[in-house]
Formats: sequence, structure tokens, C-alpha cells
Amino acid sequence: MKAILRRTYGPAEVLEFGDVDQPAIKPGEALVRIRAAGVDRGVWHVMTGLPYLGRLAFGVRRPRNPVLGMDAAGVVEAVGEEVTTLRQGDEVFGTCNGAFAEYAAVREDRCAPKPAGLTFEQAAALPTSAVTALQAVRKQGRVQAGQRVLVIGAGGGVGSYAVQIAKASGAHVTGVCSTGKVDLVRSLGADEVVDYTSTDITESGQRYDVVLDIAGNRPLRQLRRVMTPRGTLVIVGGEGGDRLTGGLDRQFRAVLLSLVVRQRMRFFVAVARRPDLETIRELVESGAVRPAVDRTYPLVEAAQAVRDMAEGRVRGKAVVTV
Ligand SMILES: NC(=O)c1ccc[n+]([C@@H]2O[C@H](COP(=O)([O-])OP(=O)(O)OC[C@H]3O[C@@H](n4cnc5c(N)ncnc54)[C@H](OP(=O)(O)O)[C@@H]3O)[C@@H](O)[C@H]2O)c1
Repeated sequence: MKAILRRTYGPAEVLEFGDVDQPAIKPGEALVRIRAAGVDRGVWHVMTGLPYLGRLAFGVRRPRNPVLGMDAAGVVEAVGEEVTTLRQGDEVFGTCNGAFAEYAAVREDRCAPKPAGLTFEQAAALPTSAVTALQAVRKQGRVQAGQRVLVIGAGGGVGSYAVQIAKASGAHVTGVCSTGKVDLVRSLGADEVVDYTSTDITESGQRYDVVLDIAGNRPLRQLRRVMTPRGTLVIVGGEGGDRLTGGLDRQFRAVLLSLVVRQRMRFFVAVARRPDLETIRELVESGAVRPAVDRTYPLVEAAQAVRDMAEGRVRGKAVVTV
């Protein structure tokens, strides 16, 4: 089958369009014919092997799996032993190892039926980003109706969903993004939008019950300044940390500090399991959430998709079509 392959960690230049064997499915997995694959920061981390800590999971010296890509939407071609909820011909979306390919092995508990009314491209833009946003808003942030929520990184993959899910929870949402993404963030339902290139988030004097820090790597003291005295900070991510840990020390400091101050501070690693994918499907089908797909790229141009996402040129999500 055709796939996007790499033999080593590195920039998008290490990616090649080539041939590889179709994956064998294990018990509990389905073989899915991929129609579209989502691009997100995780793909960049797995491609570059940065931060180095991540290589413990993906291969220390070189990538264990030559095929890149995690988020996918497609059609079940065959099911393995022990699979009870999937049948040949089902249209699904979910996560896997190696989505930038014609076929992927997808675990039964890591996929769900594709939301009605969505194209494969739109569905592929959902799994990791939308589930991360769901967990950040509901599980970690415990956002309630009427609360003021600040979403930093609102114009990106996770942020575009976080704005919509926080709105669906009845919150008053302020999105933070760069100038070119202001219109998108407003169109997603944000009540207010702060362009961080011209306005410092601490300048307005506003305080937020929940701050979702999805991008920017701002110092904790700056984030705490915009939180209410008993507010919650959820650290989702942030690029630009050191090469070994990616700046994880900020996350650990936040959790430790949380033990001695009244503000709650959390970080988490999202896993897109079926129950959360089902919740996302319901939110999409109810009209509360829509994927903001900015650009699609043919499989052969996947390297450009990853480059555009990593360099901040994508408003919302980029998707590779197969
Ligand atoms: N904890 C988890 O399980 C989990 C899961 C998924 C992702 N993540 C992490 O979450 C982060 C975001 O992922 P993503 O997929 O949403 O990436 P993305 O699509 O690239 O979005 C990041 C957004 O942040 C914006 N941004 C950059 N600097 C900023 C700043 N100083 N202030 C405000 N916004 C800024 C970028 O655009 P503009 O600068 O143009 O506005 C971009 O739109 C990454 O670090 C990723 O590794 C964590």
C-alpha cells in the first residue's frame, strides 16, 4: 500500500511517499481503509522525536513504526478476532499508529461510528484534538454554565474545539490567538477574542474561572494573574520547551503549587477512547461542534501539511486525504 514513511526522526524533509506492507490486524483490531487523516502537533512530535522523552514510547534510536499519522476516518475493510462492535463497511473515525496510509490497523476501543453528516475529511479532523478539548473543558476544567473561560491557542486544533465545547457548556468564552485567526475564533462562538500580538492577556484586568493553556508556554505567574482566586488552570500543551522534556517542568511545578495555593492547576495526557469519541459524535450531530478544516492535502503532500501546521499557517485543522 502507499504511505508516508520515515526511517529516522527529523524535520518534514525525512518523510517519503512510498510502499509498505498492509498492516496485519491483531485480535481486537479492525483493518480500516483510510479516507482521510488528521494532522496535529502530536504528528510533529512523533516525526521529529522531540522532546526526546517521547522516544521512550515511539522508539529510542529510530521510529518503531515507519508510517506517520495518528488520526483517521475511513471504512472498515475487515475485523480481527474478538471484535464485536464493528463490521465490514462501517464508517468510523478514531486514532491509530500510521494514519498517513491507504490502510491502518485500528483498535476497536479507539474508534467510533463517523458522525452523521460529516465528510471523511471533517471526521478525520476530530479524534485527538476534539477529545483533548473535551477532556480539558469537562473533566479537567469542570467548566460550568456562566463561568468565564479563557482559551489560549483558540485558533489551533485543540483550541478550536475547546472554544465550542466550553460554549456548549454555557460558559462565557474568551479566545486568545494571533491576528489571522481572530475571525475564525469569533465564528466558532467565542464571546470575546484577544489578539495576543497586540494585547497582553494580563492587561485587561479580567479574571477567569477556568484558563485552558493550549499554547504559548506562558509562565505560571502570568497565567495565575488572570485566574480568579479559586480558579482552575488546565495545561494542555505549549511548544518551545527544552529538547529533553518539552518544558514539562512547568506542568509539574503547576501541580505541586496547586497543593499549597487555592487555585487548582492540572495537566493531563489525553487518550481518545471510544466513550469520548461517542460524546464528540453526539456534540457534532447536535450542531454544538463543527470541525474547522482549513486545508486538505493529498497524501503525497503530507509533509507540507505537517510543515504548515507546525509553522502556525493552519487556521483550525489540516487534513490529509487518501
Ligand atoms: N495534553 C495532551 O494530551 C495534548 C493533546 C493534544 C495536543 N497537546 C498539545 O497542545 C498544544 C496545541 O496542540 P494543537 O494540536 O492544538 O496545535 P496547533 O493546531 O498547532 O494549535 C496551536 C495554536 O496555538 C497558537 N499559538 C502559538 N503561540 C501562541 C501564543 N503565544 N498565544 C496564544 N496562541 C498561540 C497557534 O497559532 P497563532 O499563534 O497563529 O494563534 C496555533 O493556532 C501542543 O503543544 C500539543 O502538543 C496536548
